[in-house]
This record gives sequence, C-alpha cells and structure tokens, in this order.
Amino acid sequence: MPDPQHFDRHADLYDRARPPYPDALGKRLAELGLLVASHRAVDLGAGTGQATGILVDAGMDVTAVEPGPALAARLRERFPDVHVVRDTAEAVKLPPASFNLATAATAVHWFDLDVVLPKLHTALVPGGRLAVWRNAYGDRSVPVTPFRDRIGQIVARRGAPPRRLPDEADTSRWATLLQAGGYFEPVHLEDFHWSIELDEDAVRGLFTTFSDWSVAEAEQAAEAARDLGGTVTEHYLTPLIVLARTD
Ligand SMILES: C[S@@+](CC[C@H](N)C(=O)[O-])C[C@H]1O[C@@H](n2cnc3c(N)ncnc32)[C@H](O)[C@@H]1O
Repeated sequence: MPDPQHFDRHADLYDRARPPYPDALGKRLAELGLLVASHRAVDLGAGTGQATGILVDAGMDVTAVEPGPALAARLRERFPDVHVVRDTAEAVKLPPASFNLATAATAVHWFDLDVVLPKLHTALVPGGRLAVWRNAYGDRSVPVTPFRDRIGQIVARRGAPPRRLPDEADTSRWATLLQAGGYFEPVHLEDFHWSIELDEDAVRGLFTTFSDWSVAEAEQAAEAARDLGGTVTEHYLTPLIVLARTD
C-alpha cells in the first residue's frame, strides 16, 4: 500500500533524483495567464518545491502546504520568502477568497477530493484557477523500450492490486474527477511529452523515490539500466489540467 510518508523519509533523495517538470509546462502556465507577479498562489503537497519554484520564479506570493516535516524544512530553507504550512491539503486552514491560483503537482492522487475541492473553491478568488499536473513515468504513446520492458517485468512480478484511481495518464478521467461537486470546470487539458537520459545511479535514485517501489525493486531497475549499457532513455508524459473556479 503506497504510503504518503514515503517522500518525507527520502526528502534528500527526492530533491536530487526527481527530474524537474518540462520547461514547456511552465511556459504554458505563463501563456494561460496563471503566473502573474504578486498574485497569490497556494501549492498543495509541495514536496521539495519542484512546482513551488515555478510560482516563486514568476514573482508570485506563494503559500506551500506540505505535511512531511523533513520536506517542509527543506522548503523553508530553499524558499525563505514562501509561507510554508506543515499540514495536509484536507486539514490546512486557508483564508477565504485569498488565492488567484492553486496548484497540485504529482500530488492530487493523495488527496481526498471531497474535502479538498470545496476548500479550494472557498480559498480562491472569483475567477481563480486550479492547475493540476504530474509526471507520469513512462509514456505509452512511445514504442516500448528495452528498459521499459524490464520495468514492466519487475512490476508484473509484484502482482500489484487493482488501481483505486484512474491511470495517471488518463487526463480526461482525472478532469472528470476534479469537476465532481461542481466546484471547478476544466478550461485547458494538455499532455506534454518529453524524454530524459538516466544512468544507473539516476535510475536507482529515482525509482527509490516512487512510493510503490521497494528498495530491492529499485535495485533491479538499476541493474536493468546497467545491462542495457549503463544509460537509458526514458519517455515521460506530463498531463496538465487547468480548471476554473465556478461562480
Ligand atoms: C510525489 S510528491 C510531489 C511533490 C511536489 N509537488 C513535486 O511536484 O515534486 C507528493 C507530495 O504530496 C504530499 N502529500 C501526500 N499526502 C498529502 C496530503 N493529504 N495533503 C498534502 N500533501 C500530501 C507528500 O508528502 C509529497 O510531498
């Protein structure tokens, strides 16, 4: 069973091993008018600040919500001007009508949306936006690489339980979940396709950060990279869903 505390136990590694979001995503957020200097943004499940940094770089006034103590400490160190709140998205107290933008990056699948969506509706100003995105590690629109084949074998051996939530790459089903209750309506859906080269150490580190991977499995993934020449190309997908707060 994936454990949300997994990331906090691996805070240093998470910071080093997780690849950043593609530049094209940040550009699109700006083009959509979401990144506005001095506008207020709240980043939920901020981790080590991969998404928080995009908001900070745009000059926004940022609140970062993160339940993990080690991760929250890292956020405070990295972003002294960000208001870091150590709490969950469900329990955090957000002042009403105070944010122009809420973001959840590779985090929304951890939230109880029945609680979080109405809370964000109250916390956002009229016309406010909710932007949700995540890195999906593996892109099924690309032919299966030998490395992805080996990853598939490791996962198959695990005999994972059936999924409780839609597949991470199923952007339209996630958009449907995010408009439940009528608090938000999707205004922009987009998939970003990108790739990265990872060596054996990078594979070991990255897969160790995944909450559903054991250390032994991450080692098997590193072995696969070694067997395949030491460096592998990974094709990733980053679905972006932007929703408008309903009036
Ligand atoms: C995969 S990490 C993503 C971190 C960061 N947003 C990023 O883009 O790199 C998921 C984060 O969600 C946090 N998290 C898990 N459950 C949460 C909850 N109920 N409320 C808020 N954050 C939560 C975890 O502590 C972790 O930092």
